Amino acid sequence: MDKKKFDSKNKYIEVKAHGKLMLLGEHAVVYGYPCLVSAVNKYLTVTVDFADNKEERIVTPGISDQSFIKETVKIFRNRFNKKEPFTIETKSEIGGYGLGSSAAAVVATMKALIQLYKIKINEKSLFDLCYKVILNIQGIGSGYDVASAIYGGTIYYAQKGKIIEPLDVCGIPLVIAYSGVKADTVAQINLVKEKMKNYKEGVTKIFENIAKLVDEAKKVIIAKDWVRLGTLMNYNQDYLEDLGISTEKLNSMILAARKSGAYGAKLSGAGGGDCMIALVSEEKKSGVEQAIKTAGGQSIDIKIKN
Ligand code: PMV
Repeated sequence: MDKKKFDSKNKYIEVKAHGKLMLLGEHAVVYGYPCLVSAVNKYLTVTVDFADNKEERIVTPGISDQSFIKETVKIFRNRFNKKEPFTIETKSEIGGYGLGSSAAAVVATMKALIQLYKIKINEKSLFDLCYKVILNIQGIGSGYDVASAIYGGTIYYAQKGKIIEPLDVCGIPLVIAYSGVKADTVAQINLVKEKMKNYKEGVTKIFENIAKLVDEAKKVIIAKDWVRLGTLMNYNQDYLEDLGISTEKLNSMILAARKSGAYGAKLSGAGGGDCMIALVSEEKKSGVEQAIKTAGGQSIDIKIKN
């Protein structure tokens, strides 16, 4: 980022927000059930300043849809009654894989604007503002990605942000691979919504069972019981397949990982594409990575951020 592009009042602010990976609980979390989500070691960076020439400028290389950032600015202005035009630039290491770039962009932009005016705000209020942006644009979503971008680490998240519990977790040994297909989160959520409409009892039962897996996973993850965590991930994947949100490609990558010795493997996020994750010991790691590649997956060099 070239500092000279910004105005001379020394108000230049740069904020980073990291991407995320859903460990367990996707889709159920949209209905208030719990999930586990971890921050990853890749970031989206937002730089803001007051616009020199009174003309707002938003530059987002690699992000074609600026609606999340524009809505963030709008919500910020309304909430804090600010009228000045801004220059906003983003730089992303996380775009394209379903690693939460929209939520990271919203959180980083909101934080940067708040810092620009030296406003004091607590994490929960920041969460509420950012979650509102996501809902205004997407219409639906649990807010787990917003919470992850704000709180970092690994969190237990439920009830649309009423429960956000940072966990004392480190070193979850994950292999992450991209299916080559960009998922449409809203379409996937609507697919499940349709199922819920047609078969409420069955889908509710699946969500209750996923919630039990998440609650047990929360304990075993803290105890670093990777064998049991892998088993729970496999069970979670079974339920996601029952919901109809996995794909043949994801299934074959997941199966390949399990067959070559992963403790467990599942899709991560909305399904219909994006990434899968495999929990793997150091000894089995390269074999699992190779097997996923043979199944058509692209290994991506991302780690859980402790
Ligand atoms: O599209 P992603 O990777 O952010 O994952 C979506 C996860 C869902 O549970 C399906 C949606 C949500 O908002 O929680």
